[in-house]
Amino acid sequence: MTQPLQILVILGSVREGRVAAPVGNWVMEQGAGLTDIALELVDPKDWALPPYPFPKPPAAGGYTDPLQLAWAEKIAGADGYILIAPEYNHGIPAVLKNALDFVYAEWVRKPLGFVGYGGAGGARSIEGLTQVARSLQMVALEAGVHIMGVNGKIADGRFTGEPHDTGSLARLFDQLAWWGTTLKAAR
Ligand SMILES: Cc1cc2nc3c(=O)[nH]c(=O)nc-3n(C[C@H](O)[C@H](O)[C@H](O)COP(=O)(O)O)c2cc1C
Repeated sequence: MTQPLQILVILGSVREGRVAAPVGNWVMEQGAGLTDIALELVDPKDWALPPYPFPKPPAAGGYTDPLQLAWAEKIAGADGYILIAPEYNHGIPAVLKNALDFVYAEWVRKPLGFVGYGGAGGARSIEGLTQVARSLQMVALEAGVHIMGVNGKIADGRFTGEPHDTGSLARLFDQLAWWGTTLKAAR
């Protein structure tokens, strides 16, 4: 039997009371039964990456900082990623941009999917992240989840997606599996 693709689900907020946590947990629950994909939740709170502090740009490689090396190892070990993406001031939350900026080669030629929320279903954040994906030589997936009215869908700290949300996520998993398998073989 082939190994499932390793997919990291990266939370896009470290804020107290963040919606990213229940939305990330929902993605984990929805993906738990998949056989072709194995999901791992990554919480930037556990990493506390500082704003990019190193003298060399990440694309130059040759990392020496222990935290940068550890983040590089975490990213390198995955075949694809799902970003849980709120919209902050019509754009990308800084914590996600910094997580992407922190290393380079480890992202290259891998698929990137988005689960967004906010006034426009996180669309502006997702479009911003799509631009960044191009610089990182990633495949930004067409399928995405745009959650509208996210706060109204959270009760007792749990997010419950409507059929529309669940369907969009299933489509995202499908595209992630196809691109993840294809790019893994090609790499
Ligand atoms: C700094 C900041 C900027 C925000 N800007 C926007 C925005 O431009 N558009 C929007 O729809 N919501 C915006 N919001 C509201 C967020 O969508 C809402 O707070 C959401 O819960 C944030 O995700 P989080 O809880 O995972 O941090 C903003 C929130 C913060 C904290």
